[in-house]
Amino acid sequence: MDQSTEHLASLKTSIRKTMRTRRRMLSEKDQTLASGQLSHQLRKSGLLTNSRHLGLYIGNDGELDPSPAILPLYQLGIHCYLPRLGANSSHTMHFASYTPGQTLTNNRFGIPEPSRKVSRLMPAFLLSTVLVPLVAFDLSGNRIGMGGGFYDRLFDPKKVSRRPKLIGVAYEFQKANQLPCEPWDIPLDGVITDQHYYRF
Ligand SMILES: Nc1ncnc2c1ncn2[C@@H]1O[C@H](COP(=O)(O)OP(=O)(O)O)[C@@H](O)[C@H]1O
Ligand SMILES: [Mg+2]
Repeated sequence: MDQSTEHLASLKTSIRKTMRTRRRMLSEKDQTLASGQLSHQLRKSGLLTNSRHLGLYIGNDGELDPSPAILPLYQLGIHCYLPRLGANSSHTMHFASYTPGQTLTNNRFGIPEPSRKVSRLMPAFLLSTVLVPLVAFDLSGNRIGMGGGFYDRLFDPKKVSRRPKLIGVAYEFQKANQLPCEPWDIPLDGVITDQHYYRF
């Protein structure tokens, strides 16, 4: 690692630490309230009307949770997909189909994911829109995640011909002035918070 690469990496690490602490300070009541406000923002944005195949996630580590929207989306005929990690300790992740009520299995991080037995994988390029979790974002579409690089790998332009619309999901306080960005970081097309829909 040269000096500037090292500097960027340590800057990212320190932003992650601050933001994750702030996120975890929210009470369960605050989180539920914000999740309801997010559902309202999602409806208001009109973002999902043309998203027949939607990737999203179940909130973890204090993340703003879009999953309560799955049932109403399903009732509108929108197909939902959740992240599933690659086997063993690989750094890969894919989206697998999910219908409300389907049993989920905890992965190695303790996050529930669709089980291999009942759920089919959806190639990334066939998803219309993906709601992406994040630790921090800025208004240029830069994103800092938890540090695994899973979303950057999945949407790596060297591997996918077409990228779905990528919309970050975050609490308003996760907005930063200007974030460090590394060559492999995939930019977001927008961010939806409990308060606003930002389009880039
Ligand atoms: N497309 C990719 N191919 C291979 N490795 C990748 C790719 N994207 C990211 N990585 C690796 O993942 C690690 C974490 O990436 P980083 O962007 O810091 O995490 P996050 O996006 O979760 O904040 C980095 O060490 C980086 O080298
Ligand atoms: Mg990244």
